[in-house]
Amino acid sequence: MCGIIGYVGTDRGDDAIEVLLDGLSQLEYRGYDSAGIALADGGIAVHKREGELSALESTLSPERFDGDSIGIGHTRWSTHGPPSDANAHPHTDAEERVAVVHNGIIENYQSIRDELAAAGVAFRSETDTEVVPHLIAGFLDEGLDHEAAFRAAIDRLEGSYAIAAVFDGTETVYAVRNESPLVLGVGDDGHFLASDVPAFIEYTDRVIYLDDGQFARLTPAELVVTDGDGRELEPSIETISWDPDDAGKSGYDHYMRKEINEQPAALRECFRGRLDELSGRIDVPELDELGPVETVTFVACGTSYHAAMFGARLLREQGIPAHAFLASEFGADVVPIDSTSIVVGVTQSGETADTMRAIREANRAGATTVALTNVVGSSAARETDHVLYIRAGPEISVAATKTFASQQAALTMFAAAVTDRRSRDLVRELRAVPDRIQSILDTSSAREIAETYRGSGAYFFIGRGYHYPVALEGALKMKEITYEHAEGFAAGELKHGPLALVSEETPVFAVATGDGPLAEKTIGNVKEVEARGTPVVAVTDGRSDVGRYADHVLEVPATSPVASSIVANVQLQLVAYWTANELGRPIDKPRNLAKSVTVE
Ligand code: G6P
Repeated sequence: MCGIIGYVGTDRGDDAIEVLLDGLSQLEYRGYDSAGIALADGGIAVHKREGELSALESTLSPERFDGDSIGIGHTRWSTHGPPSDANAHPHTDAEERVAVVHNGIIENYQSIRDELAAAGVAFRSETDTEVVPHLIAGFLDEGLDHEAAFRAAIDRLEGSYAIAAVFDGTETVYAVRNESPLVLGVGDDGHFLASDVPAFIEYTDRVIYLDDGQFARLTPAELVVTDGDGRELEPSIETISWDPDDAGKSGYDHYMRKEINEQPAALRECFRGRLDELSGRIDVPELDELGPVETVTFVACGTSYHAAMFGARLLREQGIPAHAFLASEFGADVVPIDSTSIVVGVTQSGETADTMRAIREANRAGATTVALTNVVGSSAARETDHVLYIRAGPEISVAATKTFASQQAALTMFAAAVTDRRSRDLVRELRAVPDRIQSILDTSSAREIAETYRGSGAYFFIGRGYHYPVALEGALKMKEITYEHAEGFAAGELKHGPLALVSEETPVFAVATGDGPLAEKTIGNVKEVEARGTPVVAVTDGRSDVGRYADHVLEVPATSPVASSIVANVQLQLVAYWTANELGRPIDKPRNLAKSVTVE
């Protein structure tokens, strides 16, 4: 996956170089192994570099481009060809008549490349994207005008793409979208396009979400959206309510820290208008038309899969058979899906390729599909029958934090809404979660724990019931941002293998809240570990005596098992964050990972 940006400004507008570099810095979470821009005032000037955006910036002196008002930019996460200057976008035809940026995968690129190479085209990169400018150039040679050549080239492509192109000698950016995100920005002194709104929110909050198969033509004076046949459409312009500061770091060293700290606010937003304390009702109008719910199948990846496991358990507890599947493993051979099935895609980005494939398969099988996502207008939101937004706001750090908490909260409401459960206790507990998280943020000793255990041989996380997905998530966070070996286990499984791995060098984080049988059993597992001289960190509300067997305690406020799993996870996020900080890792952009994975 990659991030793309495009801009055309009027005479009064901003310099393109400024807009493009600002935008790319907001899009780096989508990929950061190379970056490039093409400015198109009086000839096309392409600048691109392997490495983070700063590598490109160090080669540019923006004063050189003062007054340039049209351009496109790209930040890359490699899919075809390794990170290199040559593979960085934009790509051009041989004569630099057109420059192209692309996010997605062109599935039939090899056959097009073979055909073009046979006709004498010399390729300069290993990318799938480079076929596009060469195809366009071929159509220009046949006498087509810019727009017709762009459309004719797109016609040849199979796969997923958001593509933007600029031509030598015109003040126009052309764009198209198919199964890759693309949003347009409507400004007073220019128009924008990008993979995601934060890229241009500093300049305008009025946006148009393109649908698959739609084209856009951006000039300083107009922004025209057309369908595949060239018919003009009247797209609706939505106003985004984010504050531009929400998409910046607001004084924090890392987006991840900022986003961890934003969880109370994100959860309040998630609950807004949905919790009725008087009746104990949880009101989710988005699900009113869902119909009878007999079984629920969740599909998700990564952190979202852990949230899905949590959601499936909630439904099962309320008598509805429910299972969470890794989206990459989901298919008709795994679980039968038909018109009576409800399939819920849990995906913060709404773009994850594995999850989208699973949702599309469920759609084809006639299932009722639901998206639980953070991104308005995302592919998941558009291709499902019902959407429940988690309303976490933009999350920039690759490691998901606030979106996980908001997914847990939204899934709790989903489970209550579809079972028509009324419970004042539940509503009260949910309502209290933001304050409980705030008290952890204010008092956590996770930083000292991180200092104590930094550089351990491995980190293990255990939990039972609702805390099992939390243990998995704690380990995932740790491995993603610290690069240390970390594993999460169902506490009961420890003795069936993983116990062979524990030693004095491998701290075990045990999540155990309440004083019920699950906490008691987890204490038993902690004793097994402690007896082997292994350091134990208990994440507990103090209602059981797990703390007695632990070397350290990370406290969480006492609440119900469901709410406490949302709250307890925050301590593990902080442990991972401070450990990565101790180790000097690039926390927001861990190596080899990306926020939105749009390849299967
Ligand atoms: C990537 C991200 C993870 C995320 C996963 C699923 O791997 O790095 O943080 O959990 O994708 O993303 P989704 O957008 O579908 O929740």
